[in-house]
Amino acid sequence: MSELDLKLLYSQEEIARQVQRLGDEISNDYPDSEILLVGVLKGSFLFVADLARAIHSPLIVDFVRIASYGSETQSSGIVEIRKDLELPIKNRDVIIVEDIVDSGHTLESLYNLLLRREPRSLKICTLIDKTGRREVSIHSDYVGFSLPDGFIVGYGLDYAERYRNLPDIHLVQGR
Ligand code: IMP
Ligand code: MG
Repeated sequence: MSELDLKLLYSQEEIARQVQRLGDEISNDYPDSEILLVGVLKGSFLFVADLARAIHSPLIVDFVRIASYGSETQSSGIVEIRKDLELPIKNRDVIIVEDIVDSGHTLESLYNLLLRREPRSLKICTLIDKTGRREVSIHSDYVGFSLPDGFIVGYGLDYAERYRNLPDIHLVQGR
């Protein structure tokens, strides 16, 4: 596989600052209740790890794996659960933790699916809100960065499974 042409977009310092801000906001919003963080695999694995440590409220963590069909850079809107949650969410305060919202199809399907399990509250925290390509109306309660468009890799985000381990987030050039 040929190397991609990458341009630095968000440095690890900037990411750490935004993650801490999100952690502070969430801690303020849930001073006493126990939060259930639902990480969406695989892209959010690093974000969940850092966000969980930035939240001071009591919390538990679970993961869900969603398969969204389409090309490597474009989601089709057809979504299926590959690995379900292990914990029940009924009457819990749940926050979905997603790496990036693009068309919004993945998150919309997951949100509606979890809502049917009757959590006490259900919110969305996304590291990156790619605002320019939304196809469904879905509202994120906590947003790290807003990005109009562009394909990005690093800090959990992949291109064909690669580049997830880059500490900074980079824009893929020429796409
Ligand atoms: P959506 O269903 O179109 O909102 O797509 C969301 C999913 O597509 C994310 O959870 C990512 O896995 C993937 N995705 C969307 N944009 C990017 C990107 O710029 N880089 C890497 N993955 C992306
Ligand atoms: Mg993802």
